[in-house]
Amino acid sequence: LARGEAFADLAGLHVVVSAGGTREPLDPVRFLGNRSSGRQGYALARTAAARGARVTLVEANTQLPDPAGVDVVHVGTAVELRTAVIAAARDADAVVMAAAVADFRPSEYATGKIKKKDGREPAPIALVRNPDILAEISADRPRADQVIVGFAAETDDVLANGRDKLRRKGCDLLVVNEVGERRTFGSDDNEAVILATDGTETPVPHGPKEVLSDTVWDLVLPLLR
Ligand code: CTP
Ligand code: CA
Repeated sequence: LARGEAFADLAGLHVVVSAGGTREPLDPVRFLGNRSSGRQGYALARTAAARGARVTLVEANTQLPDPAGVDVVHVGTAVELRTAVIAAARDADAVVMAAAVADFRPSEYATGKIKKKDGREPAPIALVRNPDILAEISADRPRADQVIVGFAAETDDVLANGRDKLRRKGCDLLVVNEVGERRTFGSDDNEAVILATDGTETPVPHGPKEVLSDTVWDLVLPLLR
């Protein structure tokens, strides 16, 4: 058994986990997306349920089967994910934002398929910023004792960027992992450092996403009153 799993130490708690990657449509057949598989978020949902929590999983474009005993809300875009997370977070003890949320979306949606035009270069795709869901829910909590966890995927200066991001987002814990073409995305394993606002850094060695998930819940528990 992984740490904690023998006990229903999350019983009586409602936790919200976002998972997957948002897709931002350009036209009815095309979107801007990312490589997130959703597996880390699903592992967080499964481990929380195994430890007795009521779990709401807000899922974006994962292709993964709904985990047993978990309430799953399916969304597509960042704006839809925001609405679903804020609604589920209203009575939540903890929220974990494991989803890869697109930072930008096309400023315009073409209701018909965008077609090539003979002899002409394509028009550039104009983008606008999406809402920062993690920063928003961290700044505006329904209860002062709600615990909020973010994830950070970094390719360079992983720890320095992570510490800076923890401050900027205003969440309680930030799980920082290094990503690249063959690292983390789509894999069963993960390796991370979990940063806390009190300066604590908890390294989690390379291993199954369940182990990282249980470590996250272990760190969330003492922050809940
Ligand atoms: N996040 C979010 N809403 C966004 C973008 C990100 O809630 N619009 C959340 C992610 O779910 C994750 C955390 O913020 O938990 C960090 O995501 P990341 O992409 O690493 O951070 P950004 O602030 O978008 O910074 P960057 O410019 O490095 O992408
Ligand atoms: Ca981002």
